[in-house]
Amino acid sequence: MISKQSTGERLLLEELADRWRCLPEAGPVRYDETQRVWQVLDHETVATVLADPATYSSELSALAPTQSDFETFTQGNFVAMDPPEHRKLRTLVSQAFTPRVVQGLGPRIEAVCARLLDAVADRDRFDLVDALAYPLPIIVIAELLGIPAGEHRLFQEWASVLFGGDQLGEAPDMADLERALEAIAPTVREMNGYMLDHIRARRANPGDDLTSRLIAAEVDGVRLADQEMVGFVALLLVAGHITTTALLGNAVVTFDRHPGTDAALRADPSRIPAAVEEVLRWLPPFPELGRRVTRPVVLGGHDIPADTMLMAHLGAANRDPARFTAPDVFDVTRSPNPHLTFGHGIHFCFGAPLARLEARIALHMLHERFRTLVIPSYEDVAYQNPAVIVGVRHLPVEVSR
Ligand code: HEM
Repeated sequence: MISKQSTGERLLLEELADRWRCLPEAGPVRYDETQRVWQVLDHETVATVLADPATYSSELSALAPTQSDFETFTQGNFVAMDPPEHRKLRTLVSQAFTPRVVQGLGPRIEAVCARLLDAVADRDRFDLVDALAYPLPIIVIAELLGIPAGEHRLFQEWASVLFGGDQLGEAPDMADLERALEAIAPTVREMNGYMLDHIRARRANPGDDLTSRLIAAEVDGVRLADQEMVGFVALLLVAGHITTTALLGNAVVTFDRHPGTDAALRADPSRIPAAVEEVLRWLPPFPELGRRVTRPVVLGGHDIPADTMLMAHLGAANRDPARFTAPDVFDVTRSPNPHLTFGHGIHFCFGAPLARLEARIALHMLHERFRTLVIPSYEDVAYQNPAVIVGVRHLPVEVSR
């Protein structure tokens, strides 16, 4: 597993971004011999694939290993479902997790950021991931669900096991995936038990939190089953935690690698939202989304048989010159910025407004707290396993006040 800076002067994150830049030259669709999957590379075809769940299914279980402990999670894991089940669950949880609920989280996110940065108030050097980027999204999710503060630590532990990627190599095969699932099964059982208890407690004694709202949500007389709620919470942890950690780390690295960016954003903080979008385009935390082809299709001039795994490459689509002017320039003023980093179609990221809000608030607060913030040595930066997520695992920074 790659954990340190890669060859020469270039960073792993920049190498990945460069690989994606070259991909569209291969045409809109190609067969990747190493991974043995079809890859879809241009913006238009990626969007077409993601908008057609009948032909390109998110139900991959037929092509992937399973583990009985995960059956409990799969019930609410609607990112891996097709219509009509997907619609039922997404509509129900949307009732509990509305745009108003997310907007209302602003002051809480600010308070959590402030508390986390207070903890490093006497330090000139600290790890930005450990101090802020890792704990922030998990605390926000745990608070949302009404988990008592003393137990947020459990969520941090589960999230790191569920999504650590430690068990996987850079090009994992089925056997690697099976081993990884087995390794995390005890964590899955523990979390399942904890969440069921929490749901039962809220059912008996509702509060003003997402768990209570999920219990109350109802569409056409249908409510969420306990296991569906547990599965949804697991989905929040997997989809909403480490992705946001990656976004924050990627922003700090990319600003540092593009001199002048930080100064421009400090001079005009109203540019932060556009800068966050450009970081999302530049380094999508999930660069590829898997789909199962349900019937024989001709895509990009290739015949693709049914039951084939296909990867929609967001990283490459985000560099498509047919869609972006000067796609290989990191431009924090880019507008419009139709990146596909949050996906497209019925599975468009449910937590995108929350991820954006957290990133904007955190970056703004870093500017407020520190006169300068630099990465003194890229030798000390450690990366996540890029086969799992594109982001940093450790990011030592040096600050002045
Ligand atoms: C779906 C990316 C943050 C919850 C997705 C998808 C992508 C994505 C690409 C679509 C997957 C597919 O089509 O197969 C990201 C990125 C994030 C982020 C890059 C941060 C930078 C969050 C947050 C939450 C969240 C903060 C919740 C707290 C979800 C859920 C889905 C989803 C529930 C499934 C939606 C559905 O299937 O209808 N995300 N996500 N995500 N995301 Fe996010």
